[in-house]
Order: sequence, then structure tokens, then C-alpha cells
Amino acid sequence: MAYFAWTDELQVGNSFIDSDHQKLISLLNQLHEAMAQGQGKNILGKILDELIRYTREHFKREEDHMQKIRYADFAAHKQEHDKLIKEVVDLQAKFNAGNGMLSVQVSGFLRNWLINHIMKTDKLLASALKQAAA
Ligand code: FE2
Ligand code: FE2
Repeated sequence: MAYFAWTDELQVGNSFIDSDHQKLISLLNQLHEAMAQGQGKNILGKILDELIRYTREHFKREEDHMQKIRYADFAAHKQEHDKLIKEVVDLQAKFNAGNGMLSVQVSGFLRNWLINHIMKTDKLLASALKQAAA
């Protein structure tokens, strides 16, 4: 069973956001599995790179849509994205420098962050997008 399983509760009802989130969760599962299997730095580093790359891409997509509808909560939502990216990039820098280990705490942190952000912040965005399209 996957470490972090997709459930209907995570669905925000917007097709691009939901499919991006599924991809993010699958990358996080890959990272977790590689850690659990005790994979080496090379493999972990590659998955982490891809996870960060895709997260940036996803955040940008959401932010572009927010700007398109002149979303009132744009600044606060973007701030949550920026803060997460900063934390993960710091973690990556430590990992690359060899003085930080990736541990299950990392995947736990990312999983909790994603659940919280999706359930609160992204759901609000999805309903605003739906309204704007109506
Ligand atoms: Fe978001
Ligand atoms: Fe999102």
C-alpha cells in the first residue's frame, strides 16, 4: 500500500489541480519508498529534484489561474507556496552538502503540509475558479 494514498477527500473539484496533486503525491510516495529502502544519495537526490521541480510548476499553474481571475487571496496563497519552496530548497541544500539526511520526518512533513494546504487553501481556490467560470 502506498505511504500516502489519494482519497476523495483530497479532491478539490478542479481537473488540473486534482491531477497535479495526484502527481505530487505519487512523487512523494516515490521519495518515501526510496528512503524506506535505504536507497543511496544519488537516487534520493534525483527524486527530490523532481519533486521540487514539479512543485514549482504546480504552484506556478495555480498562481497563473489566480491572477487570471484576480483572486482576492492571491497574496496569502502565494505566500504559503513560497514558504514551502524555501523550506524544501533549504533542506535540499543541506542534503546536497552532505550534512542533512532525508528521513521519514521529511516525508511526514511534506504529507502534512500537502493535506493541510489542499484541504483548506486549494479548496478555496477551486471554488473561486468554479465561480469565475460560471
Ligand atoms: Fe496552492
Ligand atoms: Fe495545489
